[in-house]
Amino acid sequence: MSSNSGLELVDRDEDGVDRAFRADVLMGLSEAQKAIPARWLYDDAGSQLFEDITQIPEYYPTRAETEILTARGAEFAQSIGPDRAVVEFGSGSSVKTPLLLRAIEPAAYVPLDISGDFLRAAAADLSAKFPGLPVHPVEADFMRKVALPNDVADMPKLGFFPGSTIGNMVARTAVDLLRTMRDTLGEGSQLLIGMDLIKGTDVLEAAYDDAAGVTGEFNLNLARRINRELDGTIPVDDLRHVARWDDDFARIEMHLEVQRDMEFSVAGRDFVMTKGETIHTENSHKFDKRSSATLLLAGGWTPMQRWTDEKGRFSLILAEASIPRSAP
Ligand code: AVI
Repeated sequence: MSSNSGLELVDRDEDGVDRAFRADVLMGLSEAQKAIPARWLYDDAGSQLFEDITQIPEYYPTRAETEILTARGAEFAQSIGPDRAVVEFGSGSSVKTPLLLRAIEPAAYVPLDISGDFLRAAAADLSAKFPGLPVHPVEADFMRKVALPNDVADMPKLGFFPGSTIGNMVARTAVDLLRTMRDTLGEGSQLLIGMDLIKGTDVLEAAYDDAAGVTGEFNLNLARRINRELDGTIPVDDLRHVARWDDDFARIEMHLEVQRDMEFSVAGRDFVMTKGETIHTENSHKFDKRSSATLLLAGGWTPMQRWTDEKGRFSLILAEASIPRSAP
């Protein structure tokens, strides 16, 4: 995941406040069930905390996905073939992307990210690891259609969206993004996407509420960020990190629960919360074979192949851009 602290694409007011952040927070705190979009978890501190999360013992998704990428390279090579332009949605982490690039012999690598800083670092890192590979970073918000560089116009594309970040979106947003990816990548493209799997509640809740409290810090950092950037007075010490499985929606929800009745202000607006009330800060949807296929199909992608790690915790799915045709 990337930091939102990047430069050019952020719209700031004369005081340097990110207008979209303020609007989302003020609107989210005004609703009956308070909720703030999860993308705001990722300022510099939040991005670092997420990197830390990927290392904690309870958080299995990163290790499970890396295991698949390591173990199934030959199968990826066979199904994907060489000479595609790999378009990564969000700059690659230092570990996962090289595993894929090494396996499939691509013709080019195009990392997309909203944060120029992240993007440049990832591109430089990849260029050093793969000296012969053309790397074309594009600073862009991939939630909208992105114009890819001319250099890759005639190459078949492989979209890469690891990490189960798609699970952080509600279905409507996820479908919109999948369709946008299809528009960005074009006819004949493929998509390799990570989707975390439904499993026992204990394992899931522990992954999002680790014993060392790293995920709690990640969640609480959002309140700290609001105080810092939006002139807030939220009593952060009286908030508690909560992660709970919602079986109806097949998702882990993260909340900040208030431990006492409180009043606070944000950007000049006053808010009241009563003990036990929560601010909903993140959804992390989990999938099974059918629900992942349904989501991909709704987004214009036909699943072709599916791999899981040995313990069956996480899936990587290879899909092809569906050809619109009349259905029965
Ligand atoms: C980035 N995303 C896929 C992570 C997840 O597992 O949903 C974010 C995260 N939130 C808490 N822990 C990790």
